[in-house]
Amino acid sequence: MTMTHQEPLLAIEDLHAAYGLSRVLFGVSLQVDAGECVCLLGRNGVGKTTTMRSVMGFLPPTGGRILWKGTNIAGWSPHRVARAGIGFVPEDRRIFAELTVWENLDVAARAAKRDGKWTIKAVYELFPILPELRGRRGGFLSGGEQQMLTIARTLMGNPELLLLDEPSEGLAPLVVEALLVHIRALKKQGMTILLAEQGVDFSLALADRVYVLEKGTIRYTGPAGELRDDQKLRNHLLSL
Ligand SMILES: Nc1ncnc2c1ncn2[C@@H]1O[C@H](COP(=O)(O)OP(=O)(O)OP(=O)(O)O)[C@@H](O)[C@H]1O
Ligand SMILES: [Mg+2]
Repeated sequence: MTMTHQEPLLAIEDLHAAYGLSRVLFGVSLQVDAGECVCLLGRNGVGKTTTMRSVMGFLPPTGGRILWKGTNIAGWSPHRVARAGIGFVPEDRRIFAELTVWENLDVAARAAKRDGKWTIKAVYELFPILPELRGRRGGFLSGGEQQMLTIARTLMGNPELLLLDEPSEGLAPLVVEALLVHIRALKKQGMTILLAEQGVDFSLALADRVYVLEKGTIRYTGPAGELRDDQKLRNHLLSL
């Protein structure tokens, strides 16, 4: 075998996962190369969040491998996975409601175990609304503002790969548009992103490549452009 390809940053191989006796993932395989934005698309309950939680170590897989730069990290603790350079933005936007925007970021900066370019100043530049809101408590932010703060907090840990779980969920269309612009800017700065989404338009506007998950297995994979251009295929895969 010849090694012509550069090693992917993340390679999930035949991943199986379960909540107790309830099996959820049945051999998921996917890859993310450095600098790519890859989207995991799929309807409610197909296993998008579970895939991310397995990568992060919140749910140790029952089978398969999770290769991070070639090292199998399956079963590592969430803390260790984060230190290795994977940042997770969960779908429920866990910010501190009682702390201000600045305090939320400061806590994240102090907790960061990795050096890198992401400082409070840098995330303020990426999300210009945040410095305007720096004194506001998390609990008084809108859904879109909370989402931006959640992403900003995760960036403070200087991840090399960002797992974004349903960033557009529950947000008004205009807010989703704004978020899209910011995530695009982040990608342009070289961030590698694995996105989980039910929002087809949002994901196809961002992603380079797409995996469609169905009942815990990968049903389709291809360039995002293919799904963008082919409505029949899109309808077929996502029944929209
Ligand atoms: N903590 C849990 N305990 C038991 N079953 C769970 C748990 N979390 C999720 N599941 C089940 O696992 C399956 C996959 O859920 P998962 O959250 O990964 O889906 P998803 O693709 O992220 O869906 P959504 O689009 O709703 O976020 C679902 O059938 C769900 O009911
Ligand atoms: Mg989910």
